[in-house]
Amino acid sequence: MKNAPKRLLVTAALPYANGKIHLGHLSGAYLPADIYVRFQRSMKRDVVFICGSDEHGVPITITAEQQKITPQEVVDRYHGLNKAAFARFGMSFDNYSRTSLPVHHATAKEFFLRLHAAGLLKEKKEQQLYDEQAGMFLPDRYVEGTCPVCQNPEARGDQCEKCGTFLSPTELINPKSKITGAVPTVRETVHWYFPLGLFQPELEEYIRSADARDGWKENVLQYCRGWFKTGLEDRAVTRDLQWGVQVPLPGFERKVLYVWFDAVLGYISATKEWAASIGSAERWRDYWHDPSTKYVAFIGKDNVVFHCIVFPAMIMAWNRTSPDRYILPENVPANEFLNFEGQKFSKSRGWGIDVDDFLDEFPADTLRYTLTMNLPESRDADFTWKDFQARTNNELADNLGNLVNRTMTFAHRNFGGSVPSVATLQRRRTSGDGSTDEGVGREIARAAREAAECFERYKFRDGTLALINLSRFANKYFNDQEPWKTAMSDPERCALTVNICLQTLRSLAILLEPVLPFTSAAIWKMLNLPGSPAASGWESAAETALADGHPLGQSAILFTKVEDEAIDRHLKQLPALTVAQPPTHPIKPMIDIEQFKSVDLRVAKVLAAERVAKSTKLLKLKVSIGTEERQVIAGIGQHYQPEALVGKKVVLVSNLAPAKLMGEESQGMLLAASDDAGKLTILTVFEDITEGSIVK
Ligand code: MF3
Ligand code: ZN
Repeated sequence: MKNAPKRLLVTAALPYANGKIHLGHLSGAYLPADIYVRFQRSMKRDVVFICGSDEHGVPITITAEQQKITPQEVVDRYHGLNKAAFARFGMSFDNYSRTSLPVHHATAKEFFLRLHAAGLLKEKKEQQLYDEQAGMFLPDRYVEGTCPVCQNPEARGDQCEKCGTFLSPTELINPKSKITGAVPTVRETVHWYFPLGLFQPELEEYIRSADARDGWKENVLQYCRGWFKTGLEDRAVTRDLQWGVQVPLPGFERKVLYVWFDAVLGYISATKEWAASIGSAERWRDYWHDPSTKYVAFIGKDNVVFHCIVFPAMIMAWNRTSPDRYILPENVPANEFLNFEGQKFSKSRGWGIDVDDFLDEFPADTLRYTLTMNLPESRDADFTWKDFQARTNNELADNLGNLVNRTMTFAHRNFGGSVPSVATLQRRRTSGDGSTDEGVGREIARAAREAAECFERYKFRDGTLALINLSRFANKYFNDQEPWKTAMSDPERCALTVNICLQTLRSLAILLEPVLPFTSAAIWKMLNLPGSPAASGWESAAETALADGHPLGQSAILFTKVEDEAIDRHLKQLPALTVAQPPTHPIKPMIDIEQFKSVDLRVAKVLAAERVAKSTKLLKLKVSIGTEERQVIAGIGQHYQPEALVGKKVVLVSNLAPAKLMGEESQGMLLAASDDAGKLTILTVFEDITEGSIVK
């Protein structure tokens, strides 16, 4: 292994406080970062682990508008939810900060001002689309219109998803604001640009040399090469918005810093907040200014350009202006994406599962394990319920859990609950079929070395596999030794077998701690050991540390098996995605126009939506039909997340007799279309129209 760094700074991408984190987020950046940090701590390295909420950006203001609350309320809500979910999942951040804090605003402004004062930012006039109704300039992707290339009527201001053409919003035919539906006007505005191109040679050299030292991932290098090949262009670092870090220049009070410009600096401000919280306010400088600190930035692949190009260039710019130079990431181990049952996670389609919902049902370590074994380290990977079940049952319960359980039970039953004494025994004896006592010790040392090398090189799946194989090896040793037989025929050999298995449990508790912290703590407790596995330290894993006669704690079951029933239930709850055939229902008997007219259909606006307690199918909606508000209970809970519906205009059968569903009154019914494969979509209006409008 290379020389250990003096200290480490580890960051994980700051998730937007605009929604709940799901399994895809965990496997992209957070779980790998946590395994890495826990491993480094176990190696007794000085490491600080930083994360927090990214609380700016247009989508947050849109969510606020839709839910009729303030952006601050949006970020308060999701910051709290995500912080708590990360804690349940066992993330060991030293600080989980947020970019709405004063220390962050001050840090971002200082950066901007320093670059501005050094003459590195350019002021440019430009024409931009403006939504008069919303009173705001429209970010590119909030403009919709007809694609000038393929005539797709739903092209976005930044790109047409149909033909793939990159667009600018002023090129769209019949542009419309996605926020209000209004026709945007063109207004002149002024923005500050960062000269990214100026730094291209320096950036190329930086990535080349960091890669040479620390071995960057091929996928990350590919992205960077692509950007360099296209050539880096000036980037606007200010926006015409209210929500964000205000541009600290007179005359620019109504503009904010571009969210990515401030967000990456969140790593620095969060480290400052951490230092202050431990009572040594200046310590953040050790992690950001000392060149002997190794900085590793964990992210998902969609963040590569910002972490490998934009952020380093910002730091290079700062470093040109001042003696307090910042260090650059030594590596940016970005993962590819995780899919869920073969499809992309999608909030609006309800495809995927929140971390919180998952942990309500299964222990964190079972999730950590399955995610680790499926990390998208070099290509996209897939999470499936069946794989989760198989790994939990076969690899955790039947392998690791079984080893712990049988060893503990045996020690309690046959050795009075303490570590069998082997002081007088010869350790080198060979058992019947060649697996030796000494072989176990060698295997522990080998697995520890292999896992350490993998973890050091960001290969978390392979490292964990080496450790699970160690557990498998120990199970085989237990089987081969047949202590249930030697208990009678050769008590000394039996004592040795059990002693060695107990020592192995301690080793596994230490080595698996980065991946399975809760399990590791439980094993530590069963072994009745002081301190913690990590405090004992990785390097002590191969020691024979359990003393003869050491009293053991109670044995407990580590993993319960995941039943078929649970897996079937989750699979059934998935929204149907199968390719649909046209429905086979025969057309119903004829009616006349009067019969049709007796159905009163109105356009209704969804004001609020939530799940009905204890129901996966039902959503409780509050809708407005202009003259009045109605509560509607709709059986669409498996097809839509409540958040996705708020603000939508739908069609309501407004003269349907009220009905009670799970104790809740439903005053009407929404129109929706469904196919034979179980897909369902709500009917909305083609163009915006006042709520209450008659549908006929
Ligand atoms: N919020 C961004 C995302 O979820 C990540 C920001 S990382 C930071 O994609 F470095 F900019 F903070
Ligand atoms: Zn197109």
